[in-house]
Amino acid sequence: MSSSNACRESSNGCDNCLRSGNRAPVWPLERYVRTGGSPPSARLEWFPSESTQSLHPWNRMKPLPSSTQPLVILVAGIGGAIGSTLCLAVEALKSSPELVQPYLTTEGLFPDFPLVDIHVAGWDLPDALDPAAALRRHGVVPIAIQEAFLPQIASIPVFEAPSADLDLNQALNRVSRDIQTIRSRHPNAALVLVNLLPAAPQPPSIADRNALAAWYAAHPALFPDLVYVLAAIESEIPVVNFTPNAVEMDWIVDRAIQQGVPMCGRDGKTGQTFYKQVLASAWKARKLRITGWYSLNILGNADGANLMNPACARGKLANKTEILEEILGYPVLPDCHKVHIDYYPPRGDAKEAWDVIDFEGLFGLPMSMRIDFQGRDSILAAPMLMDLARWMAVLHRKGERKGLISELAFFFKKPLGADPPVSFPDQLQ
Ligand SMILES: NC(=O)c1ccc[n+]([C@@H]2O[C@H](COP(=O)([O-])OP(=O)(O)OC[C@H]3O[C@@H](n4cnc5c(N)ncnc54)[C@H](O)[C@@H]3O)[C@@H](O)[C@H]2O)c1
Repeated sequence: MSSSNACRESSNGCDNCLRSGNRAPVWPLERYVRTGGSPPSARLEWFPSESTQSLHPWNRMKPLPSSTQPLVILVAGIGGAIGSTLCLAVEALKSSPELVQPYLTTEGLFPDFPLVDIHVAGWDLPDALDPAAALRRHGVVPIAIQEAFLPQIASIPVFEAPSADLDLNQALNRVSRDIQTIRSRHPNAALVLVNLLPAAPQPPSIADRNALAAWYAAHPALFPDLVYVLAAIESEIPVVNFTPNAVEMDWIVDRAIQQGVPMCGRDGKTGQTFYKQVLASAWKARKLRITGWYSLNILGNADGANLMNPACARGKLANKTEILEEILGYPVLPDCHKVHIDYYPPRGDAKEAWDVIDFEGLFGLPMSMRIDFQGRDSILAAPMLMDLARWMAVLHRKGERKGLISELAFFFKKPLGADPPVSFPDQLQ
């Protein structure tokens, strides 16, 4: 797992390295496919890529068949590190698919939603309405890679977030009006909302929309996620919740079911929790008993800074912690599974995670392992969002699924829905 060959020239890697293909290693060629054409029995399978064929310039120039549908990803928090990286990836897909397509688990799937016909729009606060400026500010992707796509990125529609002095209905009306604007620009498109707002303190249990209106009036800026999620559901738009924020209240999920809208979440599983899940599943299968697991993360982006607020970090730390025992099926002794996140500005988006794993084998003899993971938060996250948006669009178009989709557990730290698969092999089934 150690990436000792990683570029040391800058925290984001030097342009030469990136251009010459010295990228962080990616998980090989896995992707979701449908077994018998029906999304509920979706399986994640391993098979070789046909990307060289699909990337031939001739194929790029072919007109799209009339049965295809554009997809618009609506992003709450579009000016953030992930949101702006997603904008770049969506625009790069159109003219340089080789930079993006090989990293999608849905590459080669869903021909009805072609990768070249994905669009993006969204909302952010008044000081983050320019995705090109956001890309520069976050520094996730080297300027040399951004440059070719900046003109297209400049034309991405970004709306101002509803201001905190609006009441719930006014805020919902504002977001719904913006959604209508996008619908009129892309009349035939499937729309999917992706929630990328900052991690927030978990809201109290809110019983229904009236109770939410009262609570929102008292705490307008505390949990804006619900405005976007509710507006999407009322507009019959599927929802992806990539944040650790608990938007999936019972009455909201019920409303999604009434509206025929699929939802999925919560908390994208991008780095440390992804390999923790893989390794814990493998150690369990091999009957090696985990006796302790110490996990430390350093990251220097806005998400990292925000997570220094214990109230904002609580949900994410719980998701990162609970997953281990859920996979192992036995308790790890108290204080023997620890997860820490530390804000460390020099790293920006290029996070680093260390793990010390203690385990025992025959005769109870102890062994241990160390991991040093050097990842890039938004580079890991952005392609997952394209995959998730495409899944939601397909499930919605088929009209077969509504409410929480537990089969997409592969993508989340805290998969929601009925009996989500827990171990890595189960999530591939
Ligand atoms: N990067 C990962 O690997 C990863 C993994 C799992 C979950 N997440 C979660 O994804 C979310 C986004 O991460 P990020 O790194 O892009 O964070 P970020 O802080 O860079 O972006 C959040 C964006 O939301 C905007 N925003 C704040 N309030 C808003 C409002 N009311 N309306 C519209 N926009 C608003 C901010 O201005 C900012 O641009 C976080 O909740 C994070 O915890 C990230």
